[in-house]
Amino acid sequence: MNKRHNYSLRSQAIRPFKAMTVLARANQLETEGRSVIHLEVGQPDFPVLEPIVSAASAAISQNKAGYSDANGLPALRLKIAQYYADYYGLNIDERRVIITAGASGALALVAALLTDPGDGWLLTDPGYPSNRTFIEAFSGVPQFCPVGPETRFQLSAAQAAECWQASTKNLLLASPANPTGTSLDQQNLADLAGLVASRGGHLVSDEIYQGLEYGATSRLSALSVDHQAFVINSFSKFFGMTGWRLGWLVAPEDAIDSLIRFAQNLFICASVPAQHGAVAAFNPGVLDQLHHQRDILQTRRDFVLAELPGVGLSVPITPDGAFYVYAKLPDDAPACEDYCQTLLELTGVAITPGTDFGDHNATRYIRLSYAQPQHQLEQALERLAGFRP
Ligand SMILES: Cc1ncc(COP(=O)(O)O)c(C=O)c1O
Repeated sequence: MNKRHNYSLRSQAIRPFKAMTVLARANQLETEGRSVIHLEVGQPDFPVLEPIVSAASAAISQNKAGYSDANGLPALRLKIAQYYADYYGLNIDERRVIITAGASGALALVAALLTDPGDGWLLTDPGYPSNRTFIEAFSGVPQFCPVGPETRFQLSAAQAAECWQASTKNLLLASPANPTGTSLDQQNLADLAGLVASRGGHLVSDEIYQGLEYGATSRLSALSVDHQAFVINSFSKFFGMTGWRLGWLVAPEDAIDSLIRFAQNLFICASVPAQHGAVAAFNPGVLDQLHHQRDILQTRRDFVLAELPGVGLSVPITPDGAFYVYAKLPDDAPACEDYCQTLLELTGVAITPGTDFGDHNATRYIRLSYAQPQHQLEQALERLAGFRP
């Protein structure tokens, strides 16, 4: 029946995640018996570490899985505050930490807090595809600043100043970033924070890939340069707990009451068994293992970077974090969506088209996730070597 449903305009405008569309087709090919190598989705292949699983299981079996406070278990907020002291040298009061359903939950809370209808948010293009949806859900306006290899796909304060409009209220950054895996340095971050402060705006920093830095001697949070920054983080990437749906937000003290009210109303609380599991993620032995996993990812990154030029994919900027390579297609290759589709159909290698992450030169780029075992990466590169689009 061809009935016109009365759903919102917003529902008609929302874009799909192209990575998920690739994943759906890849899964279908797999059920048909094809061998597929998944380099499209952003999730680590390591199993969740045993102490985390045990702590979550114990919470369930001991019936400690009722609602928590909307801002999360005090024990977990304390661990996170201590983590900032240990790894960033920052003194963060645990009352400023709100536990959320992944970084996604934190993005929803900051968007709700910082957006009145028509308020502009500066975002990088390329960037994480869902950012715009969170902003638009609260009637804000995403304002994209194109970034390219000249600035390591990160925003400079000069560019941000150029993009800043009368309606702009907030700047959302990510470091390390998705899809490029590049990070901001301290000076750049401080300059951006200075610009935002001079315009009376808010700085929001998505630090979901922190902990997965390669070569950096220390971690750099926006909180190091701006005590008033809103900082988003997650248990999905460094901690490897994607499906557990857990993250956090660090916010200025005067924002906490409103954020807690939004959290109560929108989510009640984040998954409580997951929160109990996450407390164990900060045990020193667990953190050591997570750092070892980071080293494995670095080895895989180095392997992929060494091999990609040989299969015609150039990497203009060496990624220094996360687990992605944002690679440029050969000049004579078709546009990225065709390239990715043909690659998947002919070779079973699933990667994500650049157009998932924005419009700026996006048709010439693809994103590849190297969070897969080494032998899978080797096989993928063999298949890519034999691929003629
Ligand atoms: C930059 C960035 N922010 C936020 C998210 C959302 O992550 P989650 O909700 O799993 O913590 C992702 C997921 O890939 C991401 O890449």
